Amino acid sequence: MDRVDDLSDEELIAVYQVEDRSARHLRANFVSSLDGAVEIDGQSKALSSDSDSRVFSMARRLADVVLVGAGTVRDEGYNPLRLSKAAREWRTSAGLAENPTLAIVSSRLELSPVNPVFRSAVRPIVVTHEASPADRREALAEVADLIVVGAAEVDLQALVDELAARELPQILCEGGPHLLGSLTEADLVDELCLALAPLLAGPGSGRITAGPPTTLTRQMKLRSTLTATDDYLFFRYTREA
Ligand SMILES: NC(=O)c1ccc[n+]([C@@H]2O[C@H](COP(=O)([O-])OP(=O)(O)OC[C@H]3O[C@@H](n4cnc5c(N)ncnc54)[C@H](OP(=O)(O)O)[C@@H]3O)[C@@H](O)[C@H]2O)c1
Repeated sequence: MDRVDDLSDEELIAVYQVEDRSARHLRANFVSSLDGAVEIDGQSKALSSDSDSRVFSMARRLADVVLVGAGTVRDEGYNPLRLSKAAREWRTSAGLAENPTLAIVSSRLELSPVNPVFRSAVRPIVVTHEASPADRREALAEVADLIVVGAAEVDLQALVDELAARELPQILCEGGPHLLGSLTEADLVDELCLALAPLLAGPGSGRITAGPPTTLTRQMKLRSTLTATDDYLFFRYTREA
């Protein structure tokens, strides 16, 4: 099994690169403790490591758009989305935009227009539905593009269609659990990249998925497994054709 530490950036990219970048593809990237915790003290930071950060950065490097739930932006104190110089140069040479676009999904729109995420390299997108508070939509329109899909809840299929129409077919979902739950329910998850952190977090935390129970199960196929000197495991699963 290859170790993340032994791979060059190009070799690591080759593990995560999709065959056809023009085809819509929704990848979710999560880290979990061995016993299934998605957070420790309300954040995923304590679950991460150097190898996890490296894989996380490589996934961002390959994305057209980084999709995240408003809860994760609030809980994690998301930084503006701006890639490193090396990543920007790699993207430019690969014919991609210098930085991916950040898209934040929210129903209540409890997001301040002065939140640092709105100072990302690319003007972010706020994704919401027609019944969300009009005054908050107006305020956020000053700092972000709005995608309004669905009457009373966000229509995630329409969102994926709209992102593809904007030439943003490579979607990287960085969480959180409620967003992954609704993407799974809509059967929109093409790939799950799961990092397993070598620690036991004990009871209390939720799983990487959350929301109302669903009857849907989606068979996935293991595409790659990487290990690391810090004892992390990195699984890449894609949906069966
Ligand atoms: N381990 C990991 O890899 C990882 C990754 C990400 C997050 N996390 C952790 O997960 C926790 C947050 O969990 P969470 O489930 O609250 O995260 P989340 O899914 O990012 O946030 C939930 C909120 O996002 C919005 N949202 C999500 N799905 C939506 C949908 N389909 N339609 C409309 N709005 C939607 C809603 O915002 P409004 O309330 O504004 O309507 C909802 O209240 C934090 O502790 C964070 O650290 C862990």
